[in-house]
Amino acid sequence: MTAGVESFEGDVNETPRRAGWVRRLGPETRRWLEEDERYFLRQALSTPCLNVMARCEGIYVEDLEGRRYMDFHGNSVHQVGFANPVVIEAIKAQLDELAFCTRRYTNRSAIALARKLAEITPGDLGKSLFCPSGAAAVGMALRLARAVTGRHKTVSMWDSFHGASLDASSVGGERMFRRDIGPLLPGTEHVPPPDPYRCLWGCGGRCDLRCARAIEFVLECEGDVAAVVAEPVRSTPSIPHPDYWRAVRAACDRHGALLVFDEIPQCLGRTGRMFVTEHFDVVPDILVLGKGLGGGILPLAAVVTRPELDVMADRALGHYTHEKSPVAAAAALATIGYIEQKGLVERARALGERALARLREIEARHALVGDVRGLGLLLGVELVRDRETRQPAPDEAEAVMYRALEKGLSFKVTAGNVLTLAPPLTITGAELDRALDIVEQCLAEVGAA
Ligand SMILES: Cc1ncc(COP(=O)(O)O)c(C=O)c1O
Repeated sequence: MTAGVESFEGDVNETPRRAGWVRRLGPETRRWLEEDERYFLRQALSTPCLNVMARCEGIYVEDLEGRRYMDFHGNSVHQVGFANPVVIEAIKAQLDELAFCTRRYTNRSAIALARKLAEITPGDLGKSLFCPSGAAAVGMALRLARAVTGRHKTVSMWDSFHGASLDASSVGGERMFRRDIGPLLPGTEHVPPPDPYRCLWGCGGRCDLRCARAIEFVLECEGDVAAVVAEPVRSTPSIPHPDYWRAVRAACDRHGALLVFDEIPQCLGRTGRMFVTEHFDVVPDILVLGKGLGGGILPLAAVVTRPELDVMADRALGHYTHEKSPVAAAAALATIGYIEQKGLVERARALGERALARLREIEARHALVGDVRGLGLLLGVELVRDRETRQPAPDEAEAVMYRALEKGLSFKVTAGNVLTLAPPLTITGAELDRALDIVEQCLAEVGAA
C-alpha cells in the first residue's frame, strides 16, 4: 500500500474479473486450476491462480493451451530470461560433477561465487553467506546486525516487503503480512517510505529530504537502533531523491546503526547498474541479494558484508541446509557471467530510458495516467481517477491488467494502482515497443469504457 493509497489486497485472486478471465480458459486448464486449489493451501496473491504454465523461455511464458505471454513480472527472477540455455548448461554440468555439499565441507563453485560477489559488489563488501530464500537472507542480515551492534531494534519502511517469514514480516511494512498473525519481533520501528509522487511531507516535487530527516529523528529518539533496513528502490517502483540514501547513510553513521539494503528483486542489472545502491553512491553495511541470483531456475539468496562484520564465528548466523549448494552457485556464476558478457546492465539502462520516454508520451495522451517513473527496466505507470487529487484508480488498473493478458502481456499491479513493468533484460527493443503498445491500447480501452 503506497502512502495515501487505499489498501487493495485482492488484486489477482477471487475478483469478478479473475472469474471472468478463468471462465474463458479451456476446460483442461480449468480442471488443473481446480486441482491446484484442492491440494494447495490458499493464500492471497497466490492461490487461486490465473492460469497454468506449460513452458517458459526467454521473455515468454506459455500456458497449457499454447498462448504465449510476455512476462513483465516473473517474480523478479528473470534478468537473463527464462530457461536461459547458458544457465541450464552450467547447472547440468555441475549436477554431473558435484550435486550437493555436506555441511563443514566446501566446494569450488560456492567459493567462486563468493569471490565473484566480493569482486562485483561496491566498496569493501567482501564476505558472503548464502541461503535458499530472500526471507532467510533478510533474517541473516537481522541476526548479523544484532551481533555486530549489540542492539536489536530496526527502522524500516511502512509498505515495504522483505519476505514472508515472521522476522522478515516484522521489518516489512505490508499489512497483509502483518495483520492477524500475533506478535511480531519487538523493536521493529517503521517510518514512511520516500515517495516523490505521494510525499507525506507535501514536498510537491521539490524534495528537501524531510523524509530522510524523519529516519534520523527516529534513530535519535530510540538511541539504540541496530539497523535501518530498506530497499534502495522499491518495486512499486518508487525512486527516492538522489541524495536520500547519502543522508540516511550519514544518519546511520552518526547513530551507530548499520545500513542494510534489500536488493533481492532489483539486483543484477535490472535498474541499469549491477546493484541499485550504485545509483546513490552509497555502500550499505549489508547487501542482501536473491531472486535472479539463481538464474531464474534455482532458489538462491545471499548476504554480502564487510570483512570487519565477520563477528559470529562462535554462533549461528544462517545454517541453511543448502548453504553452499554447488548447483545453485553454478547457476549464479553463469547468470552473472551472462549479464556481463551480454552487456545486460548497459542494455537495461538504454532500453529503460527509451521505455520511460515512451511512457511519458503515453502519460500525455491518457488522463488515467497520473505518473510514470522508472530506473532501467523497472518501470511503473500509476493510474489515477483524477490528476489533481491523485485519487488512485485500482479498478481501472486491474481492468488494464486483464486486458493486457488477453493481448499477450503479463505484469503485476502493485500498491493497487501501479502497473509495474519489469521485463527480462534480454528483451529486444521491438518486443519492448510491442509491450508498450499493448499497455497504451489497454489504457485507451479502459479510459473509454
Ligand atoms: C524486496 C524483497 N525482499 C525479500 C523478498 C523475499 O524473497 P523470497 O521470496 O525469496 O523469500 C522479496 C520477494 O518478493 C522482495 O521483493
